[in-house]
Amino acid sequence: MNLSKPDILTLSPSSSPSKRNKPIQTSISLGEKAAQLPLDALPVKMAAVDLSVYYGKFRALNKISINIPENRITALIGPSGCGKSTLLRSFNRMNDLVKGSHITGQVLLNGKNIYGLDVDVVDIRQRVGMVFQRPNPFPMNIYDNVAYGPRLYGIRNKNVLDEIVEQSLRQAAVWKDLKDKLEQSALALSGGQQQRLCIARALAVEPAVILMDEPASALDPIATLMIEDLMEELKENYTIVIVTHNMQQAARVSDFTAFLMIDEDRSGTLVEMDATDQIFTNPKCQQTEDYVTGRFG
Ligand SMILES: Nc1ncnc2c1ncn2[C@@H]1O[C@H](COP(=O)(O)OP(=O)(O)O)[C@@H](O)[C@H]1O
Ligand SMILES: [Mg+2]
Repeated sequence: MNLSKPDILTLSPSSSPSKRNKPIQTSISLGEKAAQLPLDALPVKMAAVDLSVYYGKFRALNKISINIPENRITALIGPSGCGKSTLLRSFNRMNDLVKGSHITGQVLLNGKNIYGLDVDVVDIRQRVGMVFQRPNPFPMNIYDNVAYGPRLYGIRNKNVLDEIVEQSLRQAAVWKDLKDKLEQSALALSGGQQQRLCIARALAVEPAVILMDEPASALDPIATLMIEDLMEELKENYTIVIVTHNMQQAARVSDFTAFLMIDEDRSGTLVEMDATDQIFTNPKCQQTEDYVTGRFG
């Protein structure tokens, strides 16, 4: 698919290109990053095209156009209430569950509109998995948590389920910790283990994209680093979009960063998206610079 790169500057009339000619100063350290292809050279896994999202009459997002590159980690940053979670949830139609919400525009997965009339929402949620802020294991044992999705999709064979459970827990880097207690309640695990279990549960249905909404904000620093390392491993096989209010985290883990803001009508807009080190050292828009340097709260 060859979507043209969204023209981000025109989406936000108030953002003027900044006139800076040397990198900005922040205390944010960028993670070790492999050389990166530019955004428009990468395959687009998901995209929003002129996407507006409404809760009743309130427009929470205004005409967002964004490309999510395949097998990369894209971070969504911006002040509280600017619509980061709303945008994330629109990527697997979780907003459908909010009464009175509707969208205009499109969200594309592999070039196909997931809001199209012929689309099966269950299929979309299988292909675009989600991990939430608070680990939310189901009140059942560890095995059944991971097997839940595959069973829902009709897999009954014990050997097949065993294999899926093991593989998913391995991918979520928690197999060694949990392999001897698969029959224990998931609710008894530590927060970090619960979150990795939830990631394993999301992986068990073989999604292509994983959405993470502040996945580490309820975790201690060590569990947080484990989740960040895990994301780095997962991006080889998955496309990841992460919402984080922690800019150090965005800088450490993501390849690309999209900065959202609230416009004059209180709607969320996309200010700019670029390679993460660009956003944190040499953003195009003054608003982004103000935000990443902490001059804007
Ligand atoms: N379920 C909902 N019903 C009504 N308004 C909502 C709902 N969820 C979010 N909003 C509103 O949409 C805007 C964006 O919210 P959200 O996407 O949660 O922002 P962020 O994740 O960036 O903090 C806010 O004004 C919020 O109050
Ligand atoms: Mg949020």
